[in-house]
Amino acid sequence: MSNILVTGAAGYIGSHFVRRFLNAKSAGQVIAVDNLSVGHRESLPDTERIHFFENDIGDLEFARSLFRKHDISAVVHFAASAYVGESQEQPFKYFDNNVIGAINLFKAMDEAGVKKIVFSSSCATYGNPNYCPIDEDHPQKPVSVYGNTKYIAEKAIQALATTGWSYVSLRYFNASGCDDSGEIGESHDPETHLIPLALQTALKKREVLSIFGDDYETEDGTCVRDYVHVNDIADAHLLAFDKLESGAKTEINLGSSVGASVKQVIDLCKEVSGRDIPVKVCPRRAGDAVALFADHKRATEVIGWTPKYDLRSIIETAWNWESNRKY
Ligand code: UFG
Repeated sequence: MSNILVTGAAGYIGSHFVRRFLNAKSAGQVIAVDNLSVGHRESLPDTERIHFFENDIGDLEFARSLFRKHDISAVVHFAASAYVGESQEQPFKYFDNNVIGAINLFKAMDEAGVKKIVFSSSCATYGNPNYCPIDEDHPQKPVSVYGNTKYIAEKAIQALATTGWSYVSLRYFNASGCDDSGEIGESHDPETHLIPLALQTALKKREVLSIFGDDYETEDGTCVRDYVHVNDIADAHLLAFDKLESGAKTEINLGSSVGASVKQVIDLCKEVSGRDIPVKVCPRRAGDAVALFADHKRATEVIGWTPKYDLRSIIETAWNWESNRKY
């Protein structure tokens, strides 16, 4: 078996994928690239099967050199900037990393004859949905710079597919939870995601958790999201990777298909942690859609994926990590 290139390998989702990949496949090296701008070197296991490079995959000459030196057969491309709020403040950081960087990677791949990719896309490419659950045929009208950059990269890959590439673009909903081992987990700086913030508040690392709006048209007035465990997401990449051989060309939603409100998440975080979580209701956060949850039928039909973790087990693994973090 030849080698696989994993970009953003030391990031939250990348590091979970690398572990699952090493366990699932007995052969093949992981060429792991991460510029460590947000990733954690210690999230990758110490094994001879990983060749780690602290570099920017968007650097065309570096990417070319990787393909020259290593026998790479396919790419799993996680590396990206992924804060919606930041993307509005620093749009060109997002164009540089998520569009120009991605296109440089694609160029180096194409020159080397490597035409297989699993790409990290996002439900942010849909924008404010016309209906939920969202299927893959739902119109894509991203409302943030981040969502637009993922959309543009998806389109570039679709165009390359007309020239012989195979690909699976995975549109993540709310990635959450941590590996059951407690050895790796979610560690963002700054942290903006609901579950880690709620659990950090339970641990008194934060005084109070903000609820961004409780006057939405939902059952309890708070926004509804679709939380999906990071290991389920990692497993979907493995399944998608296996489909590249047979010439897959598709976009797939990765969500649990179950919507949970902000208040429901907080209540479960209280239950799982057995602690109080003080909250304050704040104004709505700009850019938040009322409800976003997936229809994941295509994931089941095309790659045989169904999520194994429910919201409670997502929070349990996150709590396990958060109360004993390694990084
Ligand atoms: N929320 C709070 N308080 C907080 C943090 C979040 O009430 O302190 C709410 C948000 O308003 C939202 C929900 O909790 O309703 C989830 O927020 P997150 O920030 O955890 O996640 P998002 O749904 O905003 O973001 C996710 C992914 C992004 C992706 C985006 C697309 O993390 O990568 O969906 O909409 F781009």
